[in-house]
Amino acid sequence: MPELEIVLTVNGRAVRWHLEPGETLLEALHAHHLKGTKLICGTGDCCGCGVMLNGNSINACCMLAAQAEDGDLLTVEGLAQNGKLHPIQEAFAQEGAAQCGYCTPGFIMRAYAFLQEHPHPDEAEVRAALAGNICRCTGYVKPVAAVLRAAELMQEQ
Ligand code: FES
Ligand code: FES
Repeated sequence: MPELEIVLTVNGRAVRWHLEPGETLLEALHAHHLKGTKLICGTGDCCGCGVMLNGNSINACCMLAAQAEDGDLLTVEGLAQNGKLHPIQEAFAQEGAAQCGYCTPGFIMRAYAFLQEHPHPDEAEVRAALAGNICRCTGYVKPVAAVLRAAELMQEQ
């Protein structure tokens, strides 16, 4: 089958990707050495593969990479700037919100999307926002605390 080529912006850089037929966005990220976005369920049920595409929070395992053509993609690798962690990453570290860490990029990207719209959330709002993110380790208490702490850190900037 003919190879498909797309152009898009990934973490602020214009890129050209050559895709395999049927390649998902998550597979394309991994093929281009962006492995922070995790494959966990692969069926859209855990939000572990969360990224932002054109300002919207999406699950990269459930979307064809070809659909990202001309898009603006932000992955967890794009959050830190000039060697400095994003406040959400900083808050997850401060609160000890990662154990195995496999779900953490998905939580952080979901929190990123949520805090854009809700810069002053309460705990109930954070819990509702993270309801689709599955974690086998933390019991959710510390990730919720981390998102509340991230909101504070982002206000201080
Ligand atoms: S790995 Fe994509 S939603 Fe679970
Ligand atoms: S920290 Fe292990 S699955 Fe969430």
